[in-house]
Amino acid sequence: MMGSIADHQERCEAWGLDSERIPQHVAIIMDGNGRWAKERGESRVFGHVNGIDSVRSSVEAALELGIKHLTLYAFSTENWNRPKEEVNALMDLLVETLVKEVSELADKGVKLRTIGHTAALPDSCQVQLQKAAERTSHQDQLELILALSYSSRWEMVEAVKSMMNSGVKAHEVTADLISEHLTTQGVPDPELMIRTSGEHRISNFLLWQMAYTEFHFSPVLWPDFGKEEFIGAIRDYQNRERRFGGLLDTNHNVETK
Ligand code: IPE
Ligand code: IPE
Ligand code: MG
Repeated sequence: MMGSIADHQERCEAWGLDSERIPQHVAIIMDGNGRWAKERGESRVFGHVNGIDSVRSSVEAALELGIKHLTLYAFSTENWNRPKEEVNALMDLLVETLVKEVSELADKGVKLRTIGHTAALPDSCQVQLQKAAERTSHQDQLELILALSYSSRWEMVEAVKSMMNSGVKAHEVTADLISEHLTTQGVPDPELMIRTSGEHRISNFLLWQMAYTEFHFSPVLWPDFGKEEFIGAIRDYQNRERRFGGLLDTNHNVETK
């Protein structure tokens, strides 16, 4: 997966991408597992199981393109409201997948991190997450961030509590200080957010961090979202004009008569 800058450039060009404009951080709302299963007359859990292949494809594509951080929204605070059977199946699937995949992730240079209220997860999940984080802690090709029992409002409330507990004074509060108190501390804001399944909403995901993120909404249901779709989202991102409220260089020469 390593290789020279020339290799990287060639790989990107083969996919029709500009190697110099690969986002550092991509965040994904993996949505549509339930509908994918329903279309096949199967239970929702069947969709979640099949969604794992798409996780694998996205991780592989991210490694290939040299993306440094990939955040996957795997379970939201609001998802605790789903039927107990589905929640339990999702937790079991998480444990099973971690156990099965952790060596390969480490071999590929992937470092695992979690964001969210992980203390609310079953003990077995917490143990495996801890093990996986330790096992991959020295890897530096790609940081894979799993958002688990995560919601942005939960995270912001925690950040405010943490600032108050550490005695931060009102005049000391800055945007950077707030970023440092979020669970994504140290991770650059995502340049691109992908949501699958045709839903056009944020669902309480990275609200602070996505202030200037580009959004790519795909109609594809998550279990069908493969490497081609991931690359397509990056291509879409590369066609965007990012202005951050300013003007592009070419627009500076405004005629003033
Ligand atoms: C996303 O798929 C996975 C999780 C939220 C855990 P859904 O389970 O939301 O699938 P749909 O949206 O009902 O099709
Ligand atoms: C968002 O998907 C959460 C995850 C993908 C983990 P949901 O399916 O839970 O969101 P809503 O209910 O459609 O907003
Ligand atoms: Mg959904």
